[in-house]
Amino acid sequence: MRIADARIVELPKFLDARGNLSFVEQKNHIPFQIRRTYWLYDVPGGECRGGHAYIENQEFIVALSGSFDVVLDDGVEKRTFTLNRSYYGLYVPKGLWREMNNFSTNSLAMVLSSTDYDANDYIRDYDVFLKLKKDGKI
Ligand code: TYD
Repeated sequence: MRIADARIVELPKFLDARGNLSFVEQKNHIPFQIRRTYWLYDVPGGECRGGHAYIENQEFIVALSGSFDVVLDDGVEKRTFTLNRSYYGLYVPKGLWREMNNFSTNSLAMVLSSTDYDANDYIRDYDVFLKLKKDGKI
């Protein structure tokens, strides 16, 4: 997978004086079956999460509150996606190196995932990632 396979998806929003509402639907917005949901919160300023790639897992990331950057890297190109509205989601295909940083105070990152948690699905060494990418293994 390449950076070009990642994309921002605009989710529906109902603006209302009583408070806004957005939603995400499997069949309309998510290009995989959702298997798991996790979230990142209370991230201290300056911290970086998720410096790794997945062999199989795909993700859909939403900044439910606050803002943060998702940096994607396919071994050739690197791109930063800033998520700062709760009605945008970022689709992250498998096989990309991804980091999350620049978290604002009280930000909340929701991550929809295509697989169960599996430590063996992670590539945590950037040089190993580059080699697998170069060899077309991921
Ligand atoms: P991890 O994905 O390694 O976070 P990061 O890459 O940002 O450091 O997750 C941190 C820990 O949380 C890891 O030791 C395992 C656990 N974890 C689960 O048990 N289930 C999950 O769905 C996730 C995402 C993590």
